[in-house]
Amino acid sequence: MSASLFEPLQLGDIALANRIVMAPMTRSRAGEGGLPTGLHQAYYAQRAGAGLIVAEGTYPSRHGKGYCRTPGIENTAQIYAWRDVTGSVRSRGAAMVLQLMHVGRVATRHNKAPDAQTVAPSAIRARGTIYADGQGLVEMEVPRALAENEVTAVIDEYRQAAVNALAAGFDGVELHCSSGYLPMQFLLLCTNQRTDGYGGSLRARLRFVVETLEAIAGAIGAGRVGLRICPGNPYNDMHDDDPAATYGALLDAVTPLGLAYLHVSRSPDPALDAFALARRHFGGALIVNDGFDGASAARAVASGVGEAVSFARHFIANPDLPQRLRHGAPLAAFDRTLLHTPGARGYTDYPAYEAYEAAAGLAATGQVISQEGLQP
Ligand SMILES: Cc1cc2nc3c(=O)[nH]c(=O)nc-3n(C[C@H](O)[C@H](O)[C@H](O)COP(=O)(O)O)c2cc1C
Repeated sequence: MSASLFEPLQLGDIALANRIVMAPMTRSRAGEGGLPTGLHQAYYAQRAGAGLIVAEGTYPSRHGKGYCRTPGIENTAQIYAWRDVTGSVRSRGAAMVLQLMHVGRVATRHNKAPDAQTVAPSAIRARGTIYADGQGLVEMEVPRALAENEVTAVIDEYRQAAVNALAAGFDGVELHCSSGYLPMQFLLLCTNQRTDGYGGSLRARLRFVVETLEAIAGAIGAGRVGLRICPGNPYNDMHDDDPAATYGALLDAVTPLGLAYLHVSRSPDPALDAFALARRHFGGALIVNDGFDGASAARAVASGVGEAVSFARHFIANPDLPQRLRHGAPLAAFDRTLLHTPGARGYTDYPAYEAYEAAAGLAATGQVISQEGLQP
């Protein structure tokens, strides 16, 4: 019998009440010192109808911060602040993992603590600009290439961040290995021209991701660790001549670790079926992502393309997305001008379906959500 979106699912050590996952979204609402606030608590609690929430990209160490107003998980204050968020979410029945996002070269010093550095596998600048409060759009900076012993230190920062995430009440962590951030910078030749043990052959370029996952899994248990990929993603000035080979080899290498799940996004290359590639090379459960609606998600789970489906943009203006999908209610469109602005507007003020109807005096119309507004 085929599975339904609304059935429970076990991902490693993480139990989901249903197979609807909220994908991670950077929303730039963190307070001073990278602290999540009461707004985060409200925002995620509103969305706790999901089986699993993957919280927004969060820096494991100050060096890994590149965007403005993103949260961290490197110190005690951040651990305590996240506890309020995870407590509210878990008491409402959702599981919650934290996405660990070290941006590497995708950064400007304007968004960093004064003592933080921009580091990457090689000193190659990402072409493009990045937003900083008070500065507007600025060029991304040239990163400093990590020395070999520093690579080990960065891996240890990830390990510590995972330990911190568990202390903060998360069920686990997800390693962000997409969108041109540090782990992906190690994978690809365009950003990794190292001549030591972390560069050169494909096998050597995989090492950073594999060793990071080993370190995290060793600390919190592989059943609490997920990996996020998007084969062929060009975001942040990335280029991969052969994503099928890169990610096939990566997944072959990480499968023996026994991770909780692989979170895989559709490849922008129409010739590459990332979901089929993931099935062939990854031994565990798949959360599939990108562009799903209720009907296509139900088909993906029923036909076994993935064990679960994640939604990002639909969760922005539909805090009660799982209920809407269950009842076939129309989906509201979000305001893209408020995606990354501080404050509650466009963040915690999207109503649930009934409330929306009452406020507007009519049923929400199912609007087509544009592909714009895609960020980290
Ligand atoms: C505002 C915004 C912020 C995002 N931030 C992240 C992030 O922090 N980490 C990440 O892995 N993906 C991030 N993404 C990508 C989404 O998780 C997702 O892969 C993408 O939106 C496609 O899924 P969808 O069609 O359901 O929206 C972001 C997307 C949006 C729209």
